[in-house]
Formats: sequence, C-alpha cells, structure tokens
Amino acid sequence: MQTLREVLEDAERRHIAVGHFNFSDLAALKAIVEAAREARVPVLVGVSEGERAFLGTRQAAALVASLRNENGFPIFLNADHTHSLAKAEEAAKAGFDEIIFDASFLPWEENVAETRRAVEAIKSINPSILVEGEIGYIGTSSEILDKTPEGMGALTTPEEARQFVEATRVDVLAPAVGNMHGMLKTMVEGVAEKRLDIPRIAAIKAAARVFMTLHGGSGTNDGDFTRAIKAGITIVHINTELRLAWRRGLESALARDPDAVAPYKILPGAVEAVKQVVRSRIDLFNSQ
Ligand code: G3H
Ligand code: ZN
Repeated sequence: MQTLREVLEDAERRHIAVGHFNFSDLAALKAIVEAAREARVPVLVGVSEGERAFLGTRQAAALVASLRNENGFPIFLNADHTHSLAKAEEAAKAGFDEIIFDASFLPWEENVAETRRAVEAIKSINPSILVEGEIGYIGTSSEILDKTPEGMGALTTPEEARQFVEATRVDVLAPAVGNMHGMLKTMVEGVAEKRLDIPRIAAIKAAARVFMTLHGGSGTNDGDFTRAIKAGITIVHINTELRLAWRRGLESALARDPDAVAPYKILPGAVEAVKQVVRSRIDLFNSQ
C-alpha cells in the first residue's frame, strides 16, 4: 500500500487534493470511510486535541489501523492542531501518519523554534511521519460563529512561507490565504462563502516548495477550491460542515422516531448525512 507521502505526491502530480475529514465518534468515521471507499480514493482522517481527549489517542489510532488493515484501504490518520510537544510525541508513539504541530498562536520566532523542535522530536520517534507547521491566524474552532474571529486578516506572504519551511524543515505547510476555521451563520444559511486568494497560494507554493494544506474548508466557494488545488493545495480540511450534518442527521432521525432509544437505529441518520457531505467534497477535490 502507498504511504501518505506517496499519496500526496501522486495528488500533487495530478493537480487534485486529498480530503481531510475530522471525526469524534464512530458514526462520523464510518461515514467518511464509506464515502471514500465508494469514491475509490485515499482519505485522511483527523482528530484534534479535543477530539482525541474524547476518543482516546491510542483508540483513534487502533480504529483507523483496523480499517486500513481491512483490504488495505488507504486511510491515513492525522493528529490535527497539536499545540504541545507532549501531545505530539503521544500521537507519534500511537502510530499517527501525520502530526500538525500548531504553534501559530506564538510570536514568529517562537513558532519557528517550537516547530523545529517538534519536527526533530517526532522524526526521532518515527522518521516517516509527516509534520505540518502553521503560519498566520485563521481562528481556532470548527463551530458556527456569530462573527469573524478577532485578530484575523493578515495573510501569509511567500517570503514568510519560504523562511518558515527552511528554518523548521516541515513536510507540509498550512498558510493563511483567506481561509478561516468554522462557519459564520450567514455561511450556514448559504448567503455568504469563504473566498481564497488564489495568486497568493500559487506564489507561496513556488516559494515554499512543500505540500500545502488548506485549513478551514467548510463554507468555501467551490470554484475557489478547484482553483486553489490547481495553484498548489494538496490537502483540504473539512470539519464544521460534517459536525453540522451529523447534528442535523441525528435530529431528523429522532424526529422520525421520537421514541427510539437504540443507538444503532438512530445513528445511521447521522452517518448518511455526514457521508453525503464527504462524498460531495471528495468528488470536488478529485475532479481534474
Ligand atoms: O483542522 C480542521 C479544519 O481546518 C476544519 O475547518 O471546520 O472550517 O472545516 P472547518
Ligand atoms: Zn484546521
């Protein structure tokens, strides 16, 4: 089976992107896997520190390993937005394929120093783990928001990207290019969309020369996704849209049968709703 690096190299060559979908329960993971299997594409699944606290770090790794070992399904696990070295080392030892060491909340010099330290520590545990670093502020939560998070606005420059990658030796870079974590209520209502700075993405890619991830994918304009992938994005993260679908699917299932108590009869409603979102994003990211 291909490694994650090989999957990303292949995606980069073909100007497509690998979808990265977060999960915090078995219903969402089942939905992601079913959608990717049906579309016959590799997939990245991610668990943030909060999602890991709920699921268990080693338990998330065991779940994904069992799915991968079943018929060699190409599913890869990412330790999303990891803010401390201890949590990064825990994920590396648990067998994660990628770790996002996110020190973007720190001043520039500290972000560079901490990320460099994390790259060395993670690679010393397992050199094949891909390490991603982040620059710029794009908000922190995959939730429905009343307003744009404070402090957003400054976008990554190509020169910052070049310096950061050179100094830290990350394998993957997450820049700020108009993206934002979470969805504004107007985005949920379908009257607003996130718009990306495509020329900037192309310039950052040319300067950084590493894989690039687009975080905060929920609520993004479809055409911008396609153009961003052509310009150099190889991984796209989606979370809030899945959480919203999970909740709506659950609510509809309960509304259909208000007396239902068996989780395995109620939760398929959530699985189906999440699966539809994952499939539509996968189809878009894989269209050439
Ligand atoms: O790491 C997670 C993502 O960047 C998700 O962002 O909730 O806006 O889709 P999103
Ligand atoms: Zn993110």
